[in-house]
Amino acid sequence: MKTVVIYHSQTGFTRRYAQWIAEAVGADCFSLSQAKGVDFSPYGAVVYGSWACAGKIRKLGWFKSRIRGWSGKRLAVFCVGASPAESPEIEPFLRRSFTDEEREWAAVFYCPGGLNYEGMPLPSKLMMRAFAKSTRAKKGKTPEEEVMAGMIGASYDIADQRYIEPILAYLRG
Ligand SMILES: Cc1cc2nc3c(=O)[nH]c(=O)nc-3n(C[C@H](O)[C@H](O)[C@H](O)COP(=O)(O)O)c2cc1C
Repeated sequence: MKTVVIYHSQTGFTRRYAQWIAEAVGADCFSLSQAKGVDFSPYGAVVYGSWACAGKIRKLGWFKSRIRGWSGKRLAVFCVGASPAESPEIEPFLRRSFTDEEREWAAVFYCPGGLNYEGMPLPSKLMMRAFAKSTRAKKGKTPEEEVMAGMIGASYDIADQRYIEPILAYLRG
C-alpha cells in the first residue's frame, strides 16, 4: 500500500521517528509545511506524527480536519513526547486528544522522544525550564514524577526504533 508520512517537529525527535517509519515501509515523507503541496489521492495510508506540548498534540487539527475526507485510507497518528512510554499519563492523554469516533478512523500511538534544549526556540526553553522547576518543587510526587523531575532539567534522548513496531504492524495489517 502506498503510504505517506507527514510530521511536525520542533527539535527533531518526531522527524527522526517519521523517517524511521518511512524507511521501514518505503513511504514518502514530508514535513507539515511541505504537505500543503502534496496530492493525497494516490496514497492508501496516511501517517501523521507530531509532538506533545503542554498536554496537547501540536497541530493535530491539521490531521483531524482531513480524517473524513480520507475515508477508505488507513490512518495513523503518532505522538512524540518527553515522557517514557510506560508513563501512566500517556493513556489518558491520548484518550482525551481524540473522540471515540476519531479513534475508529485512525489508530493512535505514542513514541518517547526526549528533550533537546539546544534545539528549542527561546519561548519553549523558558516554558520547559519553568515546568521543570515546578515539577522539582512539587510536594508528594508519585514515583514517576520523581523520575521525571530528575530527568527534565537537561537534554536527554530516549527515542528508539522499537517503538515504531506497533505502527509498522498496523500499516502492514
Ligand atoms: C513547551 C513544551 C511543552 C511540552 N509539553 C509536553 C507534554 O505535555 N508531554 C510530554 O510528554 N512532552 C512534552 N514536551 C516535550 C516534547 O514533546 C518532546 O521534547 C518531544 O520529543 C519534542 O519533539 P520534537 O523534537 O519533534 O519537537 C514539551 C516540550 C515543550 C518545549
